[in-house]
Amino acid sequence: MSVQTPKKRVAILISGRGSNMVSLIEAAQAPDYPAEIVLVLSNRPDAAGLTRARAAGIPARAIDHKAYPDRTAFDAALQKELEAAGIELIVLAGFMRILTDAFVERWAGRMINIHPSLLPLFKGTHTHERALEAGVRLHGCTVHYVVPELDAGPIVAQAAVPVRAGDDADSLAARVIVQEHRLYPAALALVAGGRARLDGGRVVFSDETARPDGALLSL
Ligand code: GRF
Repeated sequence: MSVQTPKKRVAILISGRGSNMVSLIEAAQAPDYPAEIVLVLSNRPDAAGLTRARAAGIPARAIDHKAYPDRTAFDAALQKELEAAGIELIVLAGFMRILTDAFVERWAGRMINIHPSLLPLFKGTHTHERALEAGVRLHGCTVHYVVPELDAGPIVAQAAVPVRAGDDADSLAARVIVQEHRLYPAALALVAGGRARLDGGRVVFSDETARPDGALLSL
């Protein structure tokens, strides 16, 4: 009989529709998945993802950033909820609020994000429009550890998609989000299972066969 490692307790932070959150919740239902989603928090009370999380039986709460005087006070409220739930890993999934450096440093190596571009290209917003303007032939998504500098943290995994003739931002976004929904559960499994970890500002894999290069590339 193999000894089961306890599942990592994960909170997902969202601001919107929560489609990545749903893909993570679904993946985490597998008995051998190394993480359990125990909490969903949104800075926007009207986020559709809150309803979707509750429908899946996950406790989901809004912490309205507008109710707090500044980022430090908002982050303190977040921290309180995370501690109360015994959270070990934070997963940002369309969370559109800048976190303070102090909060990010407190969670260093324990907080990941998904970004809709092949980083380090196209940090920030409107990534699909900017990819089209730049004329790149490959676009995609990246899961990375969160560091104080926006979208600049060490990369865990990436998936690439082609940019096709006639694409607009919507068609490209639709192609990328399919890969986001594959990539994020796979990347969280690597991190939560201890097979990917931070080492001197880069991500190293305990087992080179776990290295997410071939498997997560979609061309
Ligand atoms: C995704 O494209 C993600 O990469 C970005 O925000 C979007 C969130 O979408 N960070 P959803 O709320 O997961 O549907």
